[in-house]
Amino acid sequence: MATSVTPEIVSRVEALRRSLHRHNYRYYVLDDPEISDAEYDQLLRELMALEKAWPELASPDSPSVRVGAPPLSKFETTTHTIPMLSLDNGFSDSEIVDFDRRIKRFLKLEEKILYTAEPKFDGLAVELVYQEGRLVMASTRGDGITGEVITDNVRTIKAVPLILQNFKNQHIPPLLEVRGEVFMGHEGFRHLNAERLQQDLPPFANPRNAAAGSLRQLDSAITAQRPLEIFFYGVGRAIDLDSISHWETLQQLKRLGFRINPYIRAKIDIQQVLSYYKQLREKRLQLPYEIDGMVVKVDDLPLQNRLGSTSRSPRWAIAYKFQALQSTTEILNIEVQVGRTGTLTPVACLKPVKVSGVTVGRATLHNQDEIRKKDIRIGDTVLVQRAGDVIPEVVKVIETKRSGREIVFEMPQSCPVCGSTVVREMGEAATRCINANCPAQVKERIKHFASKGAFDIDGLGDKLVDQMVDKGLLTSYADIFTLDQKKLEELERMGPLSAKNLMTAVEQSKQIHFSRFLFALGIRHVGEHVAKVLADNFGNLSSLSRASRQDLEAIDGIGPAVAESVESFLAQIENQKTLDRLLNSGIQIQQATERRAQTLKEKTFVLSGTLESMTRRQAKEVIEMAGGRVSSTVSRNTDYLVAGESAGSKLQRAKDLGIAIIDEEAFKKLLG
Ligand code: IVH
Repeated sequence: MATSVTPEIVSRVEALRRSLHRHNYRYYVLDDPEISDAEYDQLLRELMALEKAWPELASPDSPSVRVGAPPLSKFETTTHTIPMLSLDNGFSDSEIVDFDRRIKRFLKLEEKILYTAEPKFDGLAVELVYQEGRLVMASTRGDGITGEVITDNVRTIKAVPLILQNFKNQHIPPLLEVRGEVFMGHEGFRHLNAERLQQDLPPFANPRNAAAGSLRQLDSAITAQRPLEIFFYGVGRAIDLDSISHWETLQQLKRLGFRINPYIRAKIDIQQVLSYYKQLREKRLQLPYEIDGMVVKVDDLPLQNRLGSTSRSPRWAIAYKFQALQSTTEILNIEVQVGRTGTLTPVACLKPVKVSGVTVGRATLHNQDEIRKKDIRIGDTVLVQRAGDVIPEVVKVIETKRSGREIVFEMPQSCPVCGSTVVREMGEAATRCINANCPAQVKERIKHFASKGAFDIDGLGDKLVDQMVDKGLLTSYADIFTLDQKKLEELERMGPLSAKNLMTAVEQSKQIHFSRFLFALGIRHVGEHVAKVLADNFGNLSSLSRASRQDLEAIDGIGPAVAESVESFLAQIENQKTLDRLLNSGIQIQQATERRAQTLKEKTFVLSGTLESMTRRQAKEVIEMAGGRVSSTVSRNTDYLVAGESAGSKLQRAKDLGIAIIDEEAFKKLLG
């Protein structure tokens, strides 16, 4: 039983909340964090521990609520006090020039109108209501008049301020309705889809659908795990927000803690709008999130008022859309690829086509159901789409181009690589080759084993793995640790130097954290996240091997499919032999239980330069396992600077601040 709350605890909780809100603001709004992610997590963990021990301290504004609230049975609806309109679209310079002319005519003005030009984010519009500086409600746009109440979900988005602070002497309005766009970035989208495929769930078609699916979850704990982001671009009702221009409104929002996009141009005339459009169109391909155009808004608010709206859209704004990242081409053939867990994926071989500057020759068709749904046939003319650097896909068939000679595709009855039988289990979209020794599966398993989130073996790339499996040098990932340098040297595109480098990289990878080790094994349904959960709960391989299916299922975050898969993987004699071989080849698994030996508790490290015996990632892992933190910047709070080979400006800064500087030798001693 916890003791009763003391004034010290209350003030610690308040201080932690204030500090977390502030760090959020520095990170999301100013894009200039003062502490590392690990330091942030440490503060958040401390707060969550206090709130757990003293539930009476819970608050809906606490930074800890980002983990989600109890599930709802349905969404309530709400009527927007000011309708959330849509935008008129323009597709060419002349349409935008027309827009400018229309405005002048309407206002009976001769002089130049000044505009704000901002990216048009491809996500979902939301409205957030703040009363006395506290987020009290969030809703979707819905049909523009009524939307759904999604407050719990929106609270989980890290860039959403839960309370407003007057960071820059900005008066806090008693009522403020802010509007913005919730979206998912390319990286978050890729990561989410990879996890979903891992768990045999259908992938989202694009970041926009992923964002929509994530935002409309009745269980906000699920939303909390989705990498949603937000930019704010306007206000609805507001009391005491006294700006006279749209640009000034955005600046005020920023001072209140709202994330504003950095690529907004303000107070430019229509010619400058057109040239900025061209710049933004180039920029689009490098942005880490999707934008589908530019929104042009009259900057002056009194003029906006005079212009007003039609029932559909405001007269003071227009969306100048980009060309879609789509082209039409022909499907020459449909090939079937075999993945790591034996999944057969049909891939369209296309007549090469440029899609917004990049040549595309292949596009995934996902699975048999997808092909049937879209009725895709060999020989069809199709619309293909590329979104950011996401894998190209076939959007639809252009049926009017059919000649009648197109061939309907059927999934093969046997594996195209090894010839074994394939199966499609009940309720699953995927067809699978069940031969674990299928060379395609072996290759993919080895690639996965060597990949970044797993053993992270530098130099063991996809082409090399293919070659090594084809030549019989590798038959399982356990063979990686008994490679012969002489044989490596004989491979194509391999000389003595690359062979030696690979041997060193293999040697270096042998120190590995338990969760990465588990992830590397390629157990079905065990992605990075599940591997972490298992590692945290079992600590080491022998406890995990002893766990029954019931033990596994009892863990928060582990469902029946994972439990079944882990149990059956560990029960197979073949896998046990591979594990024994791995462990006998000098791999040292850093066990999660070692975390309890917190010899570096509360110590903050900064790493600088290259270390000889470990990579930076490994150094970070060992420090964190011993309870320490790694920060990317040197500050007065730094306890040690670890100076490797050619340490640069951080070393100088540490000297200036009089911080303890240790070399690799001393660092290893410290780690014991
Ligand atoms: S302003 C009265 N600014 O576009 C309309 N909208 O087609 C005010 N959108 O529902 C909207 N980026 O979801 C505005 N920078 C931006 C935007 C933006 C994306 C979306 C928004 C809206 C839709 C209208």
